[in-house]
Amino acid sequence: MKFPVRTGAPASQKTACAILPIFENRTLRGVSHDIDVSCGKTLSKLIKAGVSSAKLGQTLLVPNLTGTAADKALLVGCGKKENFNAKTLSQAVFSATTAISKIGIKEATSYLAYHSIKGIDEYYAARLTVEAAQSALYCFNEMKSHTARKPNLLRLPIAVTDQSKAKESRRGVAHGQAISSGMDIARDLANRPPNICTPSHLAKESQALAGMFKNLKTKVLVERDMKRLGMGAFLSVTHGAKEPAKLIVMEYKGGHSGDAPIVLCGKGITFDTGGISLKPPSKMDEMKFDMCGAATVIGTMAALGNLQPAVNVIGIIPACENMPGSQATRPSDIVQSMSGQTIEIINTDAEGRLILCDALTYASRYKPRLMVDVATLTGACVIAIGHIYTGLFSNDDRLASDLLAAGKRSLDPAWRLPIDEEYGESLQSNFADFSNSGAREGGASIAAQFLSRFVGKTPWAHLDIAGIAWKSNQNKGATGRPVPLLIDFLLNL
Ligand code: BES
Ligand code: MN
Ligand code: ZN
Repeated sequence: MKFPVRTGAPASQKTACAILPIFENRTLRGVSHDIDVSCGKTLSKLIKAGVSSAKLGQTLLVPNLTGTAADKALLVGCGKKENFNAKTLSQAVFSATTAISKIGIKEATSYLAYHSIKGIDEYYAARLTVEAAQSALYCFNEMKSHTARKPNLLRLPIAVTDQSKAKESRRGVAHGQAISSGMDIARDLANRPPNICTPSHLAKESQALAGMFKNLKTKVLVERDMKRLGMGAFLSVTHGAKEPAKLIVMEYKGGHSGDAPIVLCGKGITFDTGGISLKPPSKMDEMKFDMCGAATVIGTMAALGNLQPAVNVIGIIPACENMPGSQATRPSDIVQSMSGQTIEIINTDAEGRLILCDALTYASRYKPRLMVDVATLTGACVIAIGHIYTGLFSNDDRLASDLLAAGKRSLDPAWRLPIDEEYGESLQSNFADFSNSGAREGGASIAAQFLSRFVGKTPWAHLDIAGIAWKSNQNKGATGRPVPLLIDFLLNL
């Protein structure tokens, strides 16, 4: 979809539909008031008659708007005026776009961010508008046999008061477009069934993306390479699977060749049965989403290719299935990781840390300035903080606070959780250096503590996205998070 930035008097702006904010206590202010005056108070009459509420996200279509250059208007409830901020703007745009896409028009003009919004500038107002609109239009129907109707909304002009705001708004639109397409890539990969979205599929898609952008390259290591590298932890997870494992390495070089890169590492378990420590059947289908960390990294790398910022970023994706079978790793098997440390596998369902630990060791070859891994790592993280925040763990306060700030700005928030050494105590093993699974209590911190043993002194953060990467029930599907957080972080280094 296109998002041209428009200036000029609202009442004389030609559009099929003007999307106008209405605030609680149902008054029309600013641009909504001006248009109301031009159309002979049609809007305020409807409101007086009680047809419209200003509850956040409620919409009312006004089909005939005479006296202005707009054919129709869509009134969008924006809640309390004094609470209108980045988040409520985003929710209002989402509802408006959903409503507009249902009436089947090709174009509509948004006035929701026409006036300045508390806490954000016009760059973020435009960027968040684009992200919200694109995510409202996202649909995954490539596996449906009937060709579903494509959304017909093609243009959503963003109205701003004057030229002085247009430049930053356009920059926001460009960034919003890149973030949205990165999210769409992540969502498509994650929504695909695991019989199609295999490790090889992830590798192929990463290679295809590399072909589309300047400065982006992909190489794929196969199991033979992993053996040579000594990745015993990673290989132990793929042992029960027929489907071959891949280690995908995407390199984006936008900076100087000598600049130390940033490493993003994404968990790519294309299906997690639990292995011999088999999971119970309920909701096991959702374990196709256990590659959302990988999908996030691939989507983020594509967004970088789109935006071409002056940084070097390496995306490392260990990808395999976690399957039971006669070849599968057993609880009590001991493996040697690429770092040399030995691990007693107590629970084959704690597989994410086993593939990530070797990927993180491999990453240190790039002498990175910092590393961030992204993984649907623990159910315990979901129990701790639910489905709103990404769980953030770090050995570096500066990196942690930069990531938290990026999450806030991009409406893709993270919450820092502890990683003290004491959390590692239950990983004690009588037979190997340590085990892969410890106490149930504090499980997310224990997993993070496990990973910290493979990063040395490099500033590193671990994002546990088990609670936020997908939605369950009727809205089942991948969210595309935390692509916005990562892109915001990388653009603000
Ligand atoms: N992929 C799961 C984590 C997960 C479970 C994410 C449910 C979202 C929803 C991971 O591989 C796993 O199974 N973790 C175990 C670790 C435990 C065995 C130490 C868990 O969380 O139960
Ligand atoms: Mn598991
Ligand atoms: Zn898993």
